Amino acid sequence: MKILVIHGPNLNLLGSRETNIYGSKTLDEINDSLNTLAAELGLELVIHQSNHEGEIVDLIQSARRYSAIVINPAAYTHTSIAIRDAIAAVNIPAVEVHLSNIHEREEFRRRSLIAPAASGQISGFASESYLLGLRAAAFIANAKKSAS
Ligand code: DQA
Repeated sequence: MKILVIHGPNLNLLGSRETNIYGSKTLDEINDSLNTLAAELGLELVIHQSNHEGEIVDLIQSARRYSAIVINPAAYTHTSIAIRDAIAAVNIPAVEVHLSNIHEREEFRRRSLIAPAASGQISGFASESYLLGLRAAAFIANAKKSAS
């Protein structure tokens, strides 16, 4: 089973960016943990980070050969109809993840435009959100496979 992980804008700065909110782990450290868990679960992972909305849309469109997507759309969560439409278009289960709990933060972060197109959302568990997201993606992809 192949899973695509997409990190959105500014997540390349993790480790130094607003560490009181996002923690001190770097993106490389998070990716290492994801790869370790993927190996344990027997999953193949492809991981990308992009600061560009259109590039994220392209990545999602090229995901047809994947069983599921784990995506932290970062600030695009709250603004991007294009990313939401891309997820809806490819019809691959997507798990939306956030390091912080977006529902307890500023008003503008409480609304996710992505959530209605995603299978579910994991928000507020720091870097663990990604690992929970990967487990959720494997679960939902397996459920879809058994149903077909
Ligand atoms: C984030 C939350 C977003 O509101 C913010 O713009 C981010 C990171 C998170 O992982 O908590 O860049 O997606």
